[in-house]
Amino acid sequence: MRTLLLSCVRSYKAFHRLQHSPCCFPLPAVTRKRFTVLRCMSTHVCKEDTSYYITTPIFYVNASPHLGHLYSAAIADCLHRYKLLKGFNSKFATGTDEHGLKIQQAAEAAGKDPLQFCTDVSLRFKHLFSSCNISYTDYIRTTELRHREAVEHFWSVLWNKGLIYKGSYEGWYSTQDESFLTPSQVGDAFDSSGKEIKVSLESGHKVDWMMEENYMFRLSAFQSQLLDWLRGNPCAIQPERFYHAVLQWLQSDLPDLSVSRQRNRLQWGIPVPGDLEQTIYVWLDALVNYLTVAGYPETHDKWWSVAHHVVGKDILKFHAIYWPSFLLGAGLPLPKTIYVHSHWTVRGKKMSKSLGNVVDPIECSQMFTTDGMRYFLLRQGVPDADCDYTDDKVRKLLNAELADSLGGLLNRCTAPALNPGQAYPSFCSQSFPRDQGGRAVAEDYHMLDAVKNLPSVVEEHYESMHVYKALEAIIACVRQTNGFVQRHKPWNLDRGKSKDQQWLETVIHVTLECLRIYGTLLQPVVPEISNKLLSRIGVQPGERSWGNTDFLPKFQGKDCPFEGRALGSDFGVLFSRLESPNADKQKPKPTKKAARSK
Ligand code: MSP
Repeated sequence: MRTLLLSCVRSYKAFHRLQHSPCCFPLPAVTRKRFTVLRCMSTHVCKEDTSYYITTPIFYVNASPHLGHLYSAAIADCLHRYKLLKGFNSKFATGTDEHGLKIQQAAEAAGKDPLQFCTDVSLRFKHLFSSCNISYTDYIRTTELRHREAVEHFWSVLWNKGLIYKGSYEGWYSTQDESFLTPSQVGDAFDSSGKEIKVSLESGHKVDWMMEENYMFRLSAFQSQLLDWLRGNPCAIQPERFYHAVLQWLQSDLPDLSVSRQRNRLQWGIPVPGDLEQTIYVWLDALVNYLTVAGYPETHDKWWSVAHHVVGKDILKFHAIYWPSFLLGAGLPLPKTIYVHSHWTVRGKKMSKSLGNVVDPIECSQMFTTDGMRYFLLRQGVPDADCDYTDDKVRKLLNAELADSLGGLLNRCTAPALNPGQAYPSFCSQSFPRDQGGRAVAEDYHMLDAVKNLPSVVEEHYESMHVYKALEAIIACVRQTNGFVQRHKPWNLDRGKSKDQQWLETVIHVTLECLRIYGTLLQPVVPEISNKLLSRIGVQPGERSWGNTDFLPKFQGKDCPFEGRALGSDFGVLFSRLESPNADKQKPKPTKKAARSK
């Protein structure tokens, strides 16, 4: 990560020098073109702005939402909440992708009017997001008028620049992926009835040969600009593995791209402006949603210049090749970052409706709680590699980390037996001096160091979308704090002796301070649990931002605003342990008498 950051800084410096170099002009046309791209990217990097715009992919409405969809949305939601905590003015867009052949066919199969069909499924996504605390600020549907206007305008810009021409496409098309494929991307397979078919080697979905008069986009003209963009912006696609994958793809020639379908084949979409016989290709239509939300074609600069996309690895080609080429063609800045994540599998297979292995995220969040599911997905989901889902994994992880480690720690220092005053007690600097000499031991000082550094460690991981690493670091500190309490056993101290009483209060004060930091840093991932934790330890809503993560001020000789404060009154457990479904069967059945007396 550090290497990546350094190379970003280096490339920014290089652009900056280039921009201010007095001998830049006149440049040959090709160099000038490249220079324009570089400069446009350098404004991206150097602009000190507190605006932030994050998007999820917009979801196809051909089927109900599944766990993979919630995962994309939870990552974006986490980044949005994190930026808000950092004081940014953050915009967070999600929504549904409602046009195209796949949706047209799904509506037909359901015997429904396409718009009604889209509305029904789109509402299911909305329902999922509100029940999982996905705090989007804009929900876009591609069937909205504002989007149609944006797409028509975008098309006209490309057309007027001569980047779209009438041609014909002959080749493979996957309706399931809404994607054109070259012969090398296609292989042989058998369908369920044993018939030989052609499939996409990447997705495994069936492909069909098509031959149509279409409008074509001059994708081939953008190859070198895309390479310049990526070489100059090593942070543009994260994690690094996907950045290298895109660079690799760009080593082969890019064919021009068909950006429309004949209207007689595809009616469910936006007609090509000025040609009612053609419908705009669904990916061009869908990608423009990011601009629509930014306010395109009107005042979009404010948000568009700070755009970041979260996407699954299956749609990287569309976001890292097609989309930047369209944007370069339209003379618009490129997204600042494309964050890529891998997939959730079930018994090693990608979750999909056709395989019948779909995990219902609503059912899961009812079983494991909303925050439980958010925590599991973001703690267990590794962006670089696929992860296999099982209910049992969820139960084990949540019991160990949320119920036992974090919940246990909160319980220990707020339980009336140990904290009868129900307050944030005082810190005694003689008991825990800055230099050794009090009652604290070397491991305690190590723990303080770790918690002090935790906000910057977590920040680095949130910034690079390695949420699981942020959570790993937090939970490691939670364990250290549990070790601290366990080591000093405050419950064995004698309250009658003033030195013991001071040390007891100090141990609780330090533990509450640790919890305050953990609760604050966990807000982007588990907002409800964090709220419960922070309220219980008396931290007010205005004291929960990144700027409030100054740890243990008393140890640094500063005032602590929390000292002496009353704890909150909610005594409930932070996170209840989850029983496995057959645990009940193992328990002895109550006798008839016991059941009657209940
Ligand atoms: N409609 C397009 C995106 C257009 S964006 C301009 C699309 N939709 S989708 O519904 O198929 O996928 C939406 C997101 O869900 C993608 O990021 C995709 O990677 C993600 N997931 C779909 N299945 C998934 C898993 N099994 N696991 C994790 N995420 C996966 O593509």
